[in-house]
Amino acid sequence: MGRGFLLALEGVDGSGKTTQAQLLALSLLQQGRDVVLTQEPTTGPVGQKLRHYLQGPTRHLSPLEELDLFLTDRREHVEMVINPALAEGRMVITDRYYYSTVAYQGALGLDPGEILAANEAFAPQPDLVFLLLIPVAQALERLQRKRQVSELLPYLERVAAIYEALADQRIQRVDAATSSQALHATLLTRTLAALEGFEGGGRRS
Ligand code: TYD
Repeated sequence: MGRGFLLALEGVDGSGKTTQAQLLALSLLQQGRDVVLTQEPTTGPVGQKLRHYLQGPTRHLSPLEELDLFLTDRREHVEMVINPALAEGRMVITDRYYYSTVAYQGALGLDPGEILAANEAFAPQPDLVFLLLIPVAQALERLQRKRQVSELLPYLERVAAIYEALADQRIQRVDAATSSQALHATLLTRTLAALEGFEGGGRRS
């Protein structure tokens, strides 16, 4: 049995990743594929602590402390969920992966290249990444009722700039300023094309 396929969805808050990850997983499951849908921050103890922290009133941890927590959460995710599923030949769709750390903790002033290297030392490289592109102001409109927009805007602009600068041939940039159904159709077509190439001999050893 060959190794499974790892797909990551990335983008700023409000870009629609979570909806798209769910729609994609559902379509692939309906086609009879063995899909594991997962997310970061995870639902494990460190992931829950991170979500609680990120929803809190202040961001009081230092950038390095944040980085450390995201790396700890991801180590658990890789060890307990991602690697076992890939070893069983399953397809894994993750709603955020290490490019989120590169972009979000990079936007706090840490070096994006160093963050990437720290992650690639332990986390399997994805076979395909969809980077959902949408103007930050439009993404924030979608979230308006949930979060403090004025504080988030400049931060997310920096996050988006780091995402945009990523030079990685596995990353496919997709226009996300469109309807959910149109975006889903694009992502499904592209995923099936990538899977065909993978299963037709492009499979990792
Ligand atoms: P998000 O996907 O927006 O979760 P939800 O929509 O369920 O609240 O992720 C939560 C936040 O975590 C988001 O603002 C981005 C941030 N984040 C990082 O800063 N670094 C990371 O490595 C990851 C995975 C997420």
